[in-house]
Amino acid sequence: MALPWLAAPWLWLCWLGSGGCLRCGDERLVYSITFAKDAKAARCTQVSYNRTKPILLQHPCSQYHFWGKQKISVYLGKDVFISMTTFESSLSPLSIPEELEAKEAVVSAIAFVHTDRVSMVINGRVYLYFKSPDRWVPSAGVSSSVSELSNVHCCYTGEDSQCKMVSWTLFAYDTGHSVSDSHIFLSKDGGYTFTRVQISTGEQGVLLGVYNFISFGLTGLLINRTEEDETGKAAGAYFRYFGTENNHMSSYSSAIFHLLSKGPAKLWSIHSLGLRGFIILWTTDILLISSNNGLIMDEVTVMPTKKFQNTTFPDSGFSLVTVSRSEIAVLTQDRQIFYGSLSLVTTVVYIATDKSIDLNTTVMLFEERGWLTLLSPVISNFSQLYDFKKCKFNLQLAIWRSQQSCDVEILEGDFQNKIYYIDMHENLTLNATFVPKPGKRSIPLVTVSNPHVLAFSAKILEIGFTYDGNTKYLLHIDLQQQYFSGFAERDFCDGLLDGEISTVTVDIPDKGIGCVDVAPLTALVAVSCPPTKHIRIFKNITACDKGLIQEAVLKNNFSYTISYEIYDPQFLARPNIQQDNLQIKYDFKNLGCPLLVYYKNPWVPILELWENGAFQKHVSAEFVMFEINGMHNYDYLLTASDVNCFSQPQNWTALLKEQESPDPHTAWTRRNYMSCKNRNGPELKWPSVKYQVLGGGKNKIIFPPYNGLYVFKAIIVDTFYSYCDLSITFSIYVYGAFPRSYLNFQATLISLLILILLLILTGYFLPHLSLKKIHPKVKVF
Ligand SMILES: *[C@@H]1O[C@H](CO)[C@@H](O)[C@H](O)[C@H]1NC(C)=O
Ligand SMILES: *[C@@H]1O[C@H](CO)[C@@H](O)[C@H](O)[C@H]1NC(C)=O
Ligand SMILES: *[C@@H]1O[C@H](CO)[C@@H](O)[C@H](O)[C@H]1NC(C)=O
Ligand SMILES: *[C@@H]1O[C@H](CO)[C@@H](O)[C@H](O)[C@H]1NC(C)=O
Ligand SMILES: *[C@@H]1O[C@H](CO)[C@@H](O)[C@H](O)[C@H]1NC(C)=O
Ligand SMILES: *[C@@H]1O[C@H](CO)[C@@H](O)[C@H](O)[C@H]1NC(C)=O
Ligand SMILES: *[C@@H]1O[C@H](CO)[C@@H](O)[C@H](O)[C@H]1NC(C)=O
Ligand SMILES: *[C@@H]1O[C@H](CO)[C@@H](O)[C@H](O)[C@H]1NC(C)=O
Ligand SMILES: *[C@@H]1O[C@H](CO)[C@@H](O)[C@H](O)[C@H]1NC(C)=O
Ligand SMILES: *[C@@H]1O[C@H](CO)[C@@H](O)[C@H](O)[C@H]1NC(C)=O
Repeated sequence: MALPWLAAPWLWLCWLGSGGCLRCGDERLVYSITFAKDAKAARCTQVSYNRTKPILLQHPCSQYHFWGKQKISVYLGKDVFISMTTFESSLSPLSIPEELEAKEAVVSAIAFVHTDRVSMVINGRVYLYFKSPDRWVPSAGVSSSVSELSNVHCCYTGEDSQCKMVSWTLFAYDTGHSVSDSHIFLSKDGGYTFTRVQISTGEQGVLLGVYNFISFGLTGLLINRTEEDETGKAAGAYFRYFGTENNHMSSYSSAIFHLLSKGPAKLWSIHSLGLRGFIILWTTDILLISSNNGLIMDEVTVMPTKKFQNTTFPDSGFSLVTVSRSEIAVLTQDRQIFYGSLSLVTTVVYIATDKSIDLNTTVMLFEERGWLTLLSPVISNFSQLYDFKKCKFNLQLAIWRSQQSCDVEILEGDFQNKIYYIDMHENLTLNATFVPKPGKRSIPLVTVSNPHVLAFSAKILEIGFTYDGNTKYLLHIDLQQQYFSGFAERDFCDGLLDGEISTVTVDIPDKGIGCVDVAPLTALVAVSCPPTKHIRIFKNITACDKGLIQEAVLKNNFSYTISYEIYDPQFLARPNIQQDNLQIKYDFKNLGCPLLVYYKNPWVPILELWENGAFQKHVSAEFVMFEINGMHNYDYLLTASDVNCFSQPQNWTALLKEQESPDPHTAWTRRNYMSCKNRNGPELKWPSVKYQVLGGGKNKIIFPPYNGLYVFKAIIVDTFYSYCDLSITFSIYVYGAFPRSYLNFQATLISLLILILLLILTGYFLPHLSLKKIHPKVKVF
């Protein structure tokens, strides 16, 4: 932050000088005194960027985590430099091996992938570049020349796989052709391989961009309609949105805006701003910003001050636009600098003019809050490398000079930059505190980037005073899934099969440009499956507890036999199949000791819901079960009519037969479950069939007189229970039956005697299974 004793002399100078005044708070030349031996024997082609002006691109996450690891930034100019330290050392210009690109290598677009790689379009071809060790990998699958790349980054902290993988979704495309002729390629693996995406839109107009609006659940095409179309839609640019498979399919378009440019139009876009829904489009003539994923694009206006009395930018046009998470800086062609904070209504203020800025080499970047850095490469006097001239400009001071106020003292919330999950029917409360300046009535505004999945209500409570007597307020934001909120029509809400993400932001829109230190608060809310959520089986008593099987035996490569009569490898419960008995190795590591079930008691497993290693509740949802080896000598207690079905219930055989390659693990899930209570389902023709759905009712499993092991997989099928695909595999040991084959004997005295003998034997035998050490196989009847 500003050091007052340093700032004071310039302040004084500025008061004296007329007009703008730009002084570096800190000007220095960055250079290295030790150089890595650049033993690059390979012949290389130097890479260059052939736009008239240079630009600097920073990894969008570089300003999070206190400038942690992700510091990669690229200077694109006559020379291209890639720095891992925000240009804190001398660098040699980027070059590409001659085998890949001979003669010249002109880069037209770059995109950061993950934390350490850069995807680049060079001479129309796409490459993946790794900085250390210096390595180039040509991307596969881009079959025609492209010029642009786009992706977004998720910089929130938390172990979320969706967040981590966001930047791996990459679009490569060419602009300037009509939408129908444009080739758009999509990579899901971070730029290694692309596949062409077919977009049949019927849209007329020129393709200008493709954007992944992930926190809106949509992909957007930016289209410039050059003339009025047949249907009378006006000429102009707009976003056309497309859904992914399962979300609100009502694909729609944004409002029309104008992207005119006097010269040869080059459109720049800045999109990865914390997934909050901001997108910035600019050419040399226009600067537009949207806070709602492009639905409405607004022109950025200037707040008139004594030094700059216009509300519009100077006619000279724009030279550079740079953003941080919440700030924007603009350099115009006549070298005037403007600064503002990104907000629902973005307004900037004139800061300074510096005629000495060399627009051919200078770029701008935000390195730390309150400072703007101007950077330009200079060839070193001592080596083949380039040094970097860095001029840090104190924004806070400049803002203070332009008499911009800040109406807020504090805006804080411990949810800042974190990831949260909301599963179905769950709520989340986020809390923020804020303190307005005395006499000011600034009120925070809560926004979500994807109202199709996330609904909220907010309330403000007065909670006391700060030390200096200002009122302190608490803001509670209650978030819930839009689908269950009751706030919106069903078709406004996204589907229930796959989760989606949305950001929630708390900002104070009218806080004033002076609030350099008061940044908006944002959290990422994944309306999806919390990663640690799972189910377990409640085992009140196991076969080991009762001594029917000993744990040591089960652990010791225990195996058992399933009779040929009672299993079907295709899970279709076919009787009398010609096949052998099945030898099964017991998986003790995953199954543990089997749950003990008495054969005469109709039984249903009790499932428990766990999250973050803690028990949450018993599962009340509907689930289905199958025996993983295909055993089918059990049945269900209730019939379709017993459970008052309105439509014919689904069943295993029918669902397996519907599959191309039948697999019980995927045949019946929450994705295809249809409750028989649904009156719109297929007509109930056979009310007497057994009802194969458990849970949420009185249905149970009934066993025949049979002693032995079953390994069941239970799958929760209730569509409205969770975004998680919840399932559990567990074993049970059914006991208590007379061995069946002997029950077929005639009831004679002899058989009775045998029976009694056998009872004695079993009593002896079962608890001592452990004795069968040499051949740990048990034939269960
Ligand atoms: C960039 O290079 C391409 C070919 O390499 C050329 O057609 C184009 O005019 C160049 N653009 C500028 C602004 O120099
Ligand atoms: C969009 O089309 C208009 C003509 O309708 C043209 O003047 C303008 O330059 C185009 N904008 C871009 C960015 O290509
Ligand atoms: C304000 O705008 C007008 C018209 O666009 C222009 O003539 C004038 O020079 C501008 N004033 C300043 C201070 O830039
Ligand atoms: C900047 O580049 C343009 C053309 O590329 C050239 O005419 C101009 O002299 C350069 N300006 C400086 C200060 O080098
Ligand atoms: C490089 O040389 C120039 C001209 O000789 C000189 O002005 C400049 O200070 C030198 N730079 C450094 C880092 O020594
Ligand atoms: C979630 O919030 C809504 C509205 O505030 C409330 O009706 C509902 O009971 C809450 N649900 C839970 C599980 O707290
Ligand atoms: C916010 O406050 C409420 C009530 O004071 C509490 O239940 C909730 O856990 C808090 N939220 C967070 C994210 O700490
Ligand atoms: C175990 O729990 C089940 C279900 O609650 C119950 O039916 C059974 O009697 C219990 N067994 C014992 C031994 O407590
Ligand atoms: C279990 O079987 C595996 C291979 O089938 C064998 O390597 C291992 O030694 C056996 N363990 C015991 C305790 O017999
Ligand atoms: C399974 O469902 C199909 C179609 O509804 C039906 O024809 C068949 O009889 C059912 N089978 C059983 C065992 O319920």
